[in-house]
Amino acid sequence: MKYRVGVLGGTGIVGQRMISLVTSHPWFELEFVTASEKSSGRKYGDIVKWIIEKPLPDKIAGIKVEPTHIERILEYKPDIVFSALPSSIAANIEVELAREGIVVVSNASSMRMEPDIPLINPEVNADHIDIIERQQRNRGWRGYIVKVPNCSTAILTLALKPLYDEVGLKRVVVVTMQSLSGAGLKGVPSMLILDNIIPYIGGEEEKIENETLKILGKMTRSGIEKEDFSVTASCNRVMVLEGHLENVFVETMEEIEAEEASRILREFKGNKIKRYNLPSAPREPVIVRSEDDRPQPRLDRFAGNGMSVVVGRIRRDKVLNGLKLVVLGHNTIRGAAGTALLIAELLAYRNLI
Ligand SMILES: NC(=O)c1ccc[n+]([C@@H]2O[C@H](COP(=O)([O-])OP(=O)(O)OC[C@H]3O[C@@H](n4cnc5c(N)ncnc54)[C@H](OP(=O)(O)O)[C@@H]3O)[C@@H](O)[C@H]2O)c1
Repeated sequence: MKYRVGVLGGTGIVGQRMISLVTSHPWFELEFVTASEKSSGRKYGDIVKWIIEKPLPDKIAGIKVEPTHIERILEYKPDIVFSALPSSIAANIEVELAREGIVVVSNASSMRMEPDIPLINPEVNADHIDIIERQQRNRGWRGYIVKVPNCSTAILTLALKPLYDEVGLKRVVVVTMQSLSGAGLKGVPSMLILDNIIPYIGGEEEKIENETLKILGKMTRSGIEKEDFSVTASCNRVMVLEGHLENVFVETMEEIEAEEASRILREFKGNKIKRYNLPSAPREPVIVRSEDDRPQPRLDRFAGNGMSVVVGRIRRDKVLNGLKLVVLGHNTIRGAAGTALLIAELLAYRNLI
């Protein structure tokens, strides 16, 4: 028996990635796909601008796209719904679904920072799913919502976690170079991005600065206690198709040499998640490269099937009296759809679906 799954916003970049991962998944069966009014009622294969490197499966090409309406979605009786909707649309429908008893795993940013909504990067904070019980009690919902972190933040926190555990963090400075696919299918007009770098991504810096502290926070009896070190981010859109690259500077609580940091990152196996043997969990969540010129988006974004982050150029940083490193991750896999699936596997493993 497979879990019955629906994808909301299935024609977009994240939705396509979700569909491609779900259709080859051992535990999940795709039952329906929704999109906006202009797409609904039409055959998926006729309207989707498929950009995934693997071909669109025939059986998906033939399905009819549904409208993103609560009544229609409930008719399918899904066990779990993955949301890849724009945040403004996600906000209402996800709540309605959770109220009606549906498990929602969402890539949209709405509600990510609400105290009883778990924001999960499974190798980092799987224990935060214990807040689900409180969410249902507080809100009187039969279902619940779990959020996938912002793409840059998912990549960043996976690389920070081993250092946070071993030597503590005081300050984190991050400069991102984010790919075009991060801007959705409509993306950035070619006239604005060709031969260019755009030094602004609306809302992104605040998401990195806030979400990092929630994800690395502790699950206590009174809820998720956010960490209180400082994080500052500066975000750039660059002309790369997929994969976000991040220059990260950290001040650590305990002094640490680059070689030791490299060992700590290399030995990180993903905490409890490792023992659960979940299908989407990469064998090495953090891959350390020792070459001077790695990681690079084109060469490294599919490491661990896109679920690993690749870290390189680990050096001592004199200004922060800490470390500097370069981190790369696949924004629609580790930063969205892949992590959403890993969360769903974790929920299934914990009998929460
Ligand atoms: N791209 C990334 O790397 C990334 C990473 C992490 C999180 N996210 C988040 O994931 C979500 C999806 O991002 P994306 O990049 O996949 O965006 P996208 O390519 O623009 O896709 C948006 C999807 O939402 C549907 N949609 C738009 N307006 C709608 C409406 N009024 N009612 C119902 N459906 C509607 C679209 O359907 P139509 O085709 O019919 O318009 C499409 O399926 C966003 O919340 C985004 O912030 C994105």
